[in-house]
Amino acid sequence: MDIVTTIKEIRQEPMLKSMSVGLVPTMGSLHQGHLALIRRAISENQVVVVSIFVNPTQFNDTRDLENYPRDLDADLAVLETEKVDIVYLPLVEEIYPPGFDTWVDPGKLGTTLEGIARPGHFRGVATVVAKLFNVIRPDRAYFGQKDGQQVAVIKHVAMDLNIPVEILVVDTVREWDGLPYSSRNIQLTPQRRIQAGVIYKSMLGALQLFKEGERSVAKLRAHILETLLNELDQEQIEYVDIVNADTMDRLHYAEDPSLILVAVRFGKTRLIDNLNLTRHLTLG
Ligand code: PAJ
Repeated sequence: MDIVTTIKEIRQEPMLKSMSVGLVPTMGSLHQGHLALIRRAISENQVVVVSIFVNPTQFNDTRDLENYPRDLDADLAVLETEKVDIVYLPLVEEIYPPGFDTWVDPGKLGTTLEGIARPGHFRGVATVVAKLFNVIRPDRAYFGQKDGQQVAVIKHVAMDLNIPVEILVVDTVREWDGLPYSSRNIQLTPQRRIQAGVIYKSMLGALQLFKEGERSVAKLRAHILETLLNELDQEQIEYVDIVNADTMDRLHYAEDPSLILVAVRFGKTRLIDNLNLTRHLTLG
């Protein structure tokens, strides 16, 4: 496994020149969710690059950036076991050199929902992902459905900027009680960790109603909120919305392709999750 830190080195990587390349961008602290992306990339490409970069510009809160879990040694051991070809560990000073001032602004998609809770977050994500695409020039790049709005933003960036990369989306990988694997889960106290299971349960309840024919977003949303409030206080719930999965526009009636989005706060830790109603309907 090659471990590369500079742009010069990665541009000289012989493996990236002639073969099909899959990129999995991450911020490290790798878990089962990341592994699903990596394994899919390995199965579909001749060469796989995993990047690990805790991107400072997507953190709107410096304490969140400081508290973000980091464990490079464990990550490298995992990537070695998975037989990843190249690990790219960008240097902050190369990605954001002094005077850096050109941004990729994802517009409307970046300023709703998570974009309201985390101003500037999607501008940071879009900018760093566009830079990774330019440095690595992958044929395919893999992202998790867990971050549903991020997927919509990145698809738009690739399309709007004519970046020749195929964006592939991997289903959310969940723990035993339905909570998505996330680097942030370890920040939860044992009691909050148990309560967090209600998020997936609340979305499954709405899915059940949807399967029975309910299409009113107001009713589906009320059902989710009612379930969440069995375990959580009102002020912990940041948003519950049902939106068009591509445009993130709020819906009145849950029509194709509709996505439930939930964001909940446990002290300093924010958890987000989503569930695609219409896709689950076709899956049966
Ligand atoms: P990070 O949170 O490390 O996630 C890296 C990728 O793993 C993202 O595409 C994310 O959606 C996916 N992922 C995380 N948890 C998952 C789960 N439980 N199931 C499936 N996929 C999951 O997302 C980022 O980093 C950053 O914003 C990044 C895209 C790297 C840009 O800095």
